[in-house]
Amino acid sequence: MNVCDTHRTVFRSHGAPSVLEHEPLVLKPLAPGQVRVRNEAVGVNYIDTYFRSGLYPPPCLPSGLGTEGAGTVVECAAGTQGFDVGDRVAYVQSALGAYATYHTVDQHRLVHLPDDISFTTAAGGLLKGLTVLCLFNQVSQPRPGDTVLFHAAAGGVGLLACQYARCRGIHLIGVVSSTVKAAQAEQAGAWATLLADESIAERARALTGGEGVRFVYDSVGRSTWRASLGATAARGHLISFGNASGPVENVALAELAQAGSLTVSRPMLFDYISDSASLQALAETFFQCLRDGMDVHIGATFALADAERAHVLLESRKATGSIVLIP
Ligand SMILES: NC(=O)c1ccc[n+]([C@@H]2O[C@H](COP(=O)([O-])OP(=O)(O)OC[C@H]3O[C@@H](n4cnc5c(N)ncnc54)[C@H](OP(=O)(O)O)[C@@H]3O)[C@@H](O)[C@H]2O)c1
Repeated sequence: MNVCDTHRTVFRSHGAPSVLEHEPLVLKPLAPGQVRVRNEAVGVNYIDTYFRSGLYPPPCLPSGLGTEGAGTVVECAAGTQGFDVGDRVAYVQSALGAYATYHTVDQHRLVHLPDDISFTTAAGGLLKGLTVLCLFNQVSQPRPGDTVLFHAAAGGVGLLACQYARCRGIHLIGVVSSTVKAAQAEQAGAWATLLADESIAERARALTGGEGVRFVYDSVGRSTWRASLGATAARGHLISFGNASGPVENVALAELAQAGSLTVSRPMLFDYISDSASLQALAETFFQCLRDGMDVHIGATFALADAERAHVLLESRKATGSIVLIP
């Protein structure tokens, strides 16, 4: 272990990306059940911006950041089962602190990373890919031929959703903010695209013979909630799974009745992979999707010391695909 080269990202107060600092990392002794991973690649996810901004409170301040990475096991606490020094591993739901050269991860939160999946692909795609699998199979079950609306379709989660939908014969209408992103979403598998400044509800209804779509996947939140309600067909299912524009608040249940007896879900991936068996099973399904041709598009990579720039890019709406930090 090269302890001279240990660094992490930390924030001492909430705010803009400029609150992120790069500082030396002090390695602490492992507690029972913990595994030390030398990160080869770290995933940047929109949820990281929620912790940084304070939308989701971290357990304490100062705080580390990030929950996803891929690398090599360098140390196991006594009694650890299933993992050994030298194993290739990945994780999506660690304690905050993945933006670091080394991270301490509970053994139950680790998955074995097959040799044919690169560290960068795992860090860029595992959390986002598991989210897509969970949205399309567990939270909801669209069938071949169903039409669905997916916001932020050229983002990290979005490009994987486009590919998965096409593979399953689902007609995914992707909402994006530029024509460049529209082209990327369509190339990945979107059946149609809409620009975010269009009248989304009307356009989605026009594409579905006036009925609306059976499933809406909305990770944008506050600014798209009304459009999503208006786009959903009677007895359809609106899945709100993110807050990129701010959280959805003050929803009256009667609105769901007026919009056509809608069902609404607000899922968190973590509740679907809370035990290691479900995490490992879903990860293996995702690895098979990669072998079957799914591509994790890495839109940008940054050095760990440049985490601030990575957050600026993610929040600028100019990024496409996944962003990865290389320690
Ligand atoms: N519930 C869960 O378990 C779960 C798990 C994973 C991810 N998520 C959510 O899924 C979403 C996508 O995550 P990701 O990491 O792949 O990020 P991302 O999609 O790569 O980036 C977010 C995208 O949201 C869109 N957006 C719309 N309004 C925005 C605004 N006001 N500010 C910033 N962006 C805005 C942008 O796309 P356009 O410019 O095309 O509009 C932007 O590229 C996030 O909301 C995240 O929280 C939820």
